[in-house]
Amino acid sequence: MAKFWYRKTVFNLLIMEFRPSERRISRELRVDRIKHYDIASLPPFPEGWYFIGSRRAILKEKLVQKTWMGEKIIAWCDDAGRICVAESTCPHLGSELGPSAGGQIRAGCLVCPFHGYEYDITGTCVATPYAPPPKSTRLRVFETRVMDDLVFAWWGSGGRPPQWGLPGDPPMGADWDEIGYRTMQFPGHPQETTENSVDIAHLRYIHGYDSVHPVGSVSVDGPHLKSCFDFKRTRVIAGIKTIFDVSAIAHVYGFGFSYVEIREHSIGMDSRLWVFATPVDDKHLEMVLASQMRKLRKPKRFMAGLRFLPPGWRTKAMNQIILSTQKRDVLQDVTIWGQKRYRPRPRLCQADGEIGKYRRYCEQFYPKHQIGHQDGRGSESSERSNLDTSAQVLDEQQQLS
Ligand code: FES
Ligand SMILES: [Fe+2]
Repeated sequence: MAKFWYRKTVFNLLIMEFRPSERRISRELRVDRIKHYDIASLPPFPEGWYFIGSRRAILKEKLVQKTWMGEKIIAWCDDAGRICVAESTCPHLGSELGPSAGGQIRAGCLVCPFHGYEYDITGTCVATPYAPPPKSTRLRVFETRVMDDLVFAWWGSGGRPPQWGLPGDPPMGADWDEIGYRTMQFPGHPQETTENSVDIAHLRYIHGYDSVHPVGSVSVDGPHLKSCFDFKRTRVIAGIKTIFDVSAIAHVYGFGFSYVEIREHSIGMDSRLWVFATPVDDKHLEMVLASQMRKLRKPKRFMAGLRFLPPGWRTKAMNQIILSTQKRDVLQDVTIWGQKRYRPRPRLCQADGEIGKYRRYCEQFYPKHQIGHQDGRGSESSERSNLDTSAQVLDEQQQLS
């Protein structure tokens, strides 16, 4: 019993290490919400795959509702375990379909609270309480992709179908612990937040990383951008100074999906971090951090009080520490993002990383055939000037190197 109490206390101490500052930063975050954010020159809803939620959470809640791209959507799971992501407005007479209005799932179908029309996961109306289902009544559904516990949907400019896919599932297996999550909302644009994955200089300056250096150059293959870098990091955890020696490989697939493979050398620890940025409306983002660790069975060295925890708890505690550290980093960025202005022609120095290459990569997520289309992407002239200036940034960058 005493052993159990001791372990629980160590676990709580490790977790609590991060709580006070998160509360403090959360207060700052609320202040940030009311500050001005100039993203007017970037179309607000770039094309791509965006995170919907945890499959576990959808199964548990049965019907989930959220706002993305300025509109409400719902997600549910049918009896065969297939996920559906759909608009949250009934095609019959426009009722809200989410749980807040009384929408519910019955035998795997979504039931509208207004007249009881039922929809299957393809969006087909399969029954009504008083007449045969009208053939033309269809719910708008989004293409989905499920990756272990992660559920995504495709946002196509002007409603067009997926133009590219997300990578295959990373190797999961019993070796990997379950995914942990942190969610934040703040003013921002996904192109700006994703830019941080190539902005090596800010890692040192704002987050206090040491010995940051890129490994090779940033590579781009269609929607896949890859950036590798090493760094060291000193953190005080449970009162003990700890140095982490890290190699990271970041894979970016559009602005809604970033995946970082992380190898920590001094402990011998493997983890993966996903960063999902999803536009809520034309000014705000939801950012979800998802972290997963390979089970820490035989660490090369022990950190803080982790030695005394059983391996299962040790891995969970470590994952919570990683999530809290990453969230703290994001909140440091939020303070900048919340007040910065988008610079289509940034004045760069040679040590700024490959921001010019990144800006060129970004252009594909604003398909030209949708210029001026009514999907919240701004006018034709502002779009053109945005694309032109991105190209100019690349030219400037090439001149520098
Ligand atoms: S509005 Fe949904 S069934 Fe009538
Ligand atoms: Fe950052």
